[in-house]
Amino acid sequence: NKTIYILAIESSCDDTSAAVLCNNRTLSNIVATQKIHEEYGGVVPELASRAHQQNIVPVVHQALAKANIDKKQLSAIAFTRGPGLMGSLLVGTSFAKSLSLGLDIPLIEVNHMQAHILSHFIKEDNYNSPSFPFLAMTISGGHTQIVLVRDYFDMEILGESLDDAVGEAYDKSAKILGLPYPGGPLVDKYAQLGNPNAFPFPKPKVDGLNFSFSGLKTSILYFIQRETKKNPNFIAENRNDICASIQHTIINILMDKIKKAVKQTGIKQIAIGGGVSANSGIRQALQNAEKKWGWNTYIPKFEYCTDNAAMIGIVGYLKYREMDFSDQSVSAKARYVI
Ligand code: KG4
Ligand code: ZN
Repeated sequence: NKTIYILAIESSCDDTSAAVLCNNRTLSNIVATQKIHEEYGGVVPELASRAHQQNIVPVVHQALAKANIDKKQLSAIAFTRGPGLMGSLLVGTSFAKSLSLGLDIPLIEVNHMQAHILSHFIKEDNYNSPSFPFLAMTISGGHTQIVLVRDYFDMEILGESLDDAVGEAYDKSAKILGLPYPGGPLVDKYAQLGNPNAFPFPKPKVDGLNFSFSGLKTSILYFIQRETKKNPNFIAENRNDICASIQHTIINILMDKIKKAVKQTGIKQIAIGGGVSANSGIRQALQNAEKKWGWNTYIPKFEYCTDNAAMIGIVGYLKYREMDFSDQSVSAKARYVI
């Protein structure tokens, strides 16, 4: 039973991250967030890959230094192969392959969506991991999925967004209200001060467990255009109520689908992840569901919800135990299903 040290690298979108794990525990988890995208109101792929290129070496150095281990102690390198932005993925993939060659240690490819789900297995004091089978809901600026998780590497996507991700719905609504990017946290903040039933927005009709958020964005846009024509100060005067109504609609959409998934599978263990897990509305709704319907819900530390390399590292550890290594011919994959 030797100790396994994994160096993990994540570069799928706009965060450059490196982590070191000792078995299933995090020794370091460094994230360099790219501020450059704020002025554009969204991630610019070309700028993201350039920033990864600048950040990756310092971030890896910091992760090793903070973990207080020498690179010669590493057992393997794990990296995000996909899904994500091709240019961004290429930076992490090439770096990981080179380092694995240089240190002559195994290379382990990781699926980013699996990693969001398996982040629940990073060992933390006071955190109980879910037991199989469970339902995972990954909600962020890039993803909206409900996944049936039977085992570490036996997962089935039950539903996902057909258009915008839920975080995108938050950010685009926020933009319509004139809030800075990313506006999700601000909508959440103002929502807590307003009346959720002030302005009813229509919920999309989507079959099964899939989601759609683009119609909501459009109806918010038309609503705001109509009201500001009548009263130019409409947004300023009703900010909290508008945000509360948007939040109410989005949380209802998420909860309707997850309730449907529980009904369909009979599984009442729900694990959520992704940046939108920070949302006060979804947290409240899940707490209520625990009391009302006896669900068990799991929300990891926020640092493991947003994009980070520790979640890549836990998958690296689980695959290392199985000796599931990748060949040097492995290449980045922008579309990569669980
Ligand atoms: O996981 P993440 O950091 O990055 C990816 O998109 O992969 O998620 C960021 C998203 C953004 O859309 C942001 O607005 C949203 O998560 N977000 C929130 C909250 N905190 C972050 N949305 C609603 N309420 C929040 N409290
Ligand atoms: Zn992600």
